[in-house]
Amino acid sequence: MKKHKCIKIGIVGCGAIGSSLAKEIVTGLRKDACLVALYDIKPQKSVLLSKKLTRDVKLCVASLKALIERSDLVIEASSAKGSWEIASKSLSFGRKVMVMSVGGMSGHLDELYALSRKNNAMVYLPSGAISGVDALKAANIAGVQKVTLTTRKHPNAFSGVEYVAKNFNLKGLRHDKLLFEGSAAQAVKYFPQNVNVAAVLGLAGIGMRKTRVRIIACPAVKKNIHEIEIESKAAKVFTRTENILHPQNPKTSFLAVLSAIATLKQILQPVKIGT
Ligand SMILES: NC(=O)c1ccc[n+]([C@@H]2O[C@H](COP(=O)([O-])OP(=O)(O)OC[C@H]3O[C@@H](n4cnc5c(N)ncnc54)[C@H](O)[C@@H]3O)[C@@H](O)[C@H]2O)c1
Repeated sequence: MKKHKCIKIGIVGCGAIGSSLAKEIVTGLRKDACLVALYDIKPQKSVLLSKKLTRDVKLCVASLKALIERSDLVIEASSAKGSWEIASKSLSFGRKVMVMSVGGMSGHLDELYALSRKNNAMVYLPSGAISGVDALKAANIAGVQKVTLTTRKHPNAFSGVEYVAKNFNLKGLRHDKLLFEGSAAQAVKYFPQNVNVAAVLGLAGIGMRKTRVRIIACPAVKKNIHEIEIESKAAKVFTRTENILHPQNPKTSFLAVLSAIATLKQILQPVKIGT
């Protein structure tokens, strides 16, 4: 009988998503996956996580390169600013890579295909906190005319967003406020931590420039709500996802973490269900 081989996983970014994924890998996925390295630009974060998981710091590495060398699969859960460098370096070493900060891939799609083909490596971009990517991918084969994402979040979810701080005062906001309307390409530029889902939609469908995005601050909502409308030759699709917030980071939806775990399971398991 062929010996079962565990996939060695390294995680870059030990915040809300990285920590949740690390915990799942060492518990629910331990038969098929093995956590071999953690890296964070703030070393205290990887130290803390490693200690929580293993009682010592053996998982911590001092550089991205060291993490890549130890891993078969690199999971990026850091920031849109650094995600392209992390993905491209991992691919150059022939490693599989799963990218959470999908906004950072905007403008790099052709290079992503070229690098993965050249190095015989794979890239995984989970759907994240939205529903409808399966339908979009299928419909796109026949032709999609229009994709619109409308995102509603509590004003607090936009704290620290430079574009918002410059253009709006959301303190004490009592009514809904339209913060942005434009292309997915612009949305990921202005809201790098908030709308990775816009990047997923743009890359999976008709492109970052044609995909339309509206972002609304809603004082009355407690969830991150994403509505998607797709007009295509095959079907008219409307989805609405009301996301519970991640307890460690209100900018991140709990479903985004679960979507990454589901993607990991797709990688690890032989039967793949869904588009
Ligand atoms: N795809 C999706 O649906 C989706 C959903 C939510 C969040 N995200 C994205 O995933 C990423 C992680 O989200 P989170 O909630 O865990 O954020 P977080 O702020 O809780 O954690 C990010 C961690 O990454 C570290 N970091 C930042 N840049 C780094 C770099 N270049 N190298 C190594 N470490 C670095 C930070 O120090 C921090 O510990 C963010 O970019 C976020 O926008 C994606």
